[in-house]
Parts: sequence; structure tokens; C-alpha cells
Amino acid sequence: MGIYLITCLVMTIISIKDVSCWGDITNTTSFTLQYEKPECLQFPLETQPRLLASGGPTNPYNRSFDSLRLPMLGMLEDPTIKILFDIQDGIRYVLQTKNEYTLVYHGTGVMGMSGVLDNLIEPGDKVLVGVIGFWSDVGARNAERFGANVIRMEKPIGSRFSLREIEAGIKQHRPKILYLVNGESSTGVYQPLEGIGNLCHKYDCITIIDVVATVGQQPLKMDEDKIDVVFMNSQKGLGGIVGLSPVSYSPRAMSKVRRRRSLPRILQTDINAQAEAWFITKPIESKHEVYVHSLSVTLLYSLREGLARVAEEGIENVWNRHADTHRYVHFRATKIGLEPFVANPEDRLEGISIFVTPPGKDAFKIEKYMLEKFRIEISPGLVTTLGKVIRIGLIGNNANRETAARLMDALEIALNSTETNS
Ligand SMILES: Cc1ncc(COP(=O)(O)O)c(C=O)c1O
Repeated sequence: MGIYLITCLVMTIISIKDVSCWGDITNTTSFTLQYEKPECLQFPLETQPRLLASGGPTNPYNRSFDSLRLPMLGMLEDPTIKILFDIQDGIRYVLQTKNEYTLVYHGTGVMGMSGVLDNLIEPGDKVLVGVIGFWSDVGARNAERFGANVIRMEKPIGSRFSLREIEAGIKQHRPKILYLVNGESSTGVYQPLEGIGNLCHKYDCITIIDVVATVGQQPLKMDEDKIDVVFMNSQKGLGGIVGLSPVSYSPRAMSKVRRRRSLPRILQTDINAQAEAWFITKPIESKHEVYVHSLSVTLLYSLREGLARVAEEGIENVWNRHADTHRYVHFRATKIGLEPFVANPEDRLEGISIFVTPPGKDAFKIEKYMLEKFRIEISPGLVTTLGKVIRIGLIGNNANRETAARLMDALEIALNSTETNS
């Protein structure tokens, strides 16, 4: 330590001497700028605290947010590479899987969706999509972009498929891929996964499941349920910051990827390229040969810490905490006469609860009132449900009774106010 400090001191003295010998810093080239610097950037950014309860992004876990201030590491340093392995282990744990090909794409959940579709779809592949709302519709449209022959199975908004309906769809269309959304956050519907994997084994198709709105919130057992591919994002149940999309591919899915006759179209999400960069198929010693793109080291810190926070509590306890918060929200909602949008309690998503906008009330005015009076962000629905519902997300850090009570107290006042009348 002593030798280190003395060396630093000597180096600093030498560099100060070098810099001062270099000449006058004001002796620089004079440029004529065509455009002035923006006035707005002359002031530092200021924001006020918010309770983010719209369905995501949510307020991150403290451990995750605090990690953003940690000193930056270089991207190929050993401690950074260790973070990659910690994250892989953390994702396997929250998904309850042993899948080797478990890693993180840079980009949000939609990037994960595009990545898995790109790797699994070859032009002309039949993809059966269970459409129950906005996000499953996005999945269907996105699969078309990758050349799939998409077949849509649709259910009315607010409901989901039974296993029998899914089997009938697979039997009729014999798809190569079945695409479902586990938590359709636009309508607040939960699509159970039990039995889906067995069906896909029976009829020889691959399951791709959007678990963005269920991971770290509701039970997920990827191996037990024989699910092939899932994607998610970093900012909901994993309690991190927006910008990363973890994915996991089963050995069955990887054998379809290996049989491809063409390369996936997006380099950044090519699972084989990324498996090298995440040191799953290449040793650490090859770290200078496996570059796909720069890593956002700080975002990786925050995801690592979000996952560590979940592991610290225990995933089963995290699931229970979300279930308890969900029950509490519905208990309070019943007391103030709010009608749940999803009729069957068993079909309801737990992280995001959706209620019908009461007659005579305006969902947009309620949203505004909550934000202005209480600094609480809720949502007035999404695309198909826009304006028709009040959408409340209590996810990750916010999934607890105290936060739910604060929100429901505020919502009750908002609903009683004439300012929110339509
Ligand atoms: C079910 C579902 N799928 C996909 C996404 C897209 O994720 P992102 O916004 O991180 O791209 C969302 C976002 O809310 C979602 O709720």
C-alpha cells in the first residue's frame, strides 16, 4: 500500500511538471460556429421523486439504483466478466432453469423479443401467436418482419386461452413455433404456462414466451414447464434500470438455431455470437476475440444488483410479496367500488392490476391528478384499453402493502374529486 501511494505521488508530480511545460492552454485554434450552444443545456437537470406505478418502468430496487454510482470498470476486466457470470446465474435462478444459453441483450424488452424471433424464425416458418392484447399483437407483427408465416389465434380483450384451445390451435396449424405472452400487461391478463411445454414437445414445436410482465413477480418454472425460449426486460420484476433484455434458450431451441440455413439478421442479438461474448461457448482467455458490441457496464451493475436483491429475499418470497400486494390492491379497490377489468380472479396478472374507469370519470384526468397532487404515476390504459381503464403497477421495489396503501389512499381522493370528472 505504502509503495503504491509513493508511486502515485511521484507519477502525479511528473505529470504536473510535463503538463506545465507543454505551453499555454489558451493558445488554441479559433473556430467559427454556425450554431450557438442550446440555452436549455446551460442548466443542470433537476427531477423530483415519483412513485412509478404505471406498469413499468418501476422505481428500481435501492441496491440496483445505488450501484449506478459505483466506479466504472473497463469492459473486459476480470471483475466485469465476473458480473456477466453473476447475472447469468441470477437469471437462471429467477427463471428456475439450468439453460446454458442464458444471457442479456442490450436494448429493452422489445429488443429481446426481436432477438429471439430472429434467431428462431427462418423465412416461411409457421408461427402460431396467441393474441390476447397489445403485446401479443406486437409479437405477431414482429414475427412477420422476420419472414414468418404468422397465424393469429385471438381471444377477446380481458380473457386468455385454455390449454385445450391452445392444443386445438397447434393441432390445426402444426406451427414450428408457438408464441405466447405470459403476462399481457395491456389488459392485465395472466396466461398460465403449465402444460404448454408438454404440448409443444408432443407436436414438435418451439415455445417462445414473453415473460416481461411476470419475471420476478409471479412463479416461473422454465425447466419444469419445458419452456424453450423466454425474453424479459431489466426494469420490472428484476428491479433494474431500462436498457437490458435478458433471454434464455433451452437446448431444444438451440438445436433449431443450429439447423438454420441462414444467419439471423441482427448481429447484436445473434445468440451464437452473444454466447461467445458472454463466455458461454468461449473461454475468458479469448476475451479480445469475441467482441460483438460495447457493454453498458453501469446498466449491468444495476441488473446484477437487482438480481442480487431478489436472491437475497428469495424468489419464492418475492412471488408471495407480489401476490399479497395484488390482493391488497383488489381489497381496497372493492371498498371504493372499482370494478376489475379482468372478470375471473384467476386470470389476473399480479404485478399490474387494471380497473374499469368508473362512469362519469376520465382516466386521463385521474392520471394527471395523481401525478400533480401526489407525484404518483399511474396509467390510463394502453392502446386497446386506452382511456377505458385505470392501470396500476406495483412491481419489484413497489410491491408492498405500505406503497399500495399510499397509492390507494391517493386514488380514493382522486376518484372523489370533481377535477377528475369526465
Ligand atoms: C408484456 C410486455 N412485453 C413486452 C414489453 C416491451 O418491453 P420494453 O418496453 O422494455 O421494450 C412490455 C413493456 O411494458 C410488456 O409489458
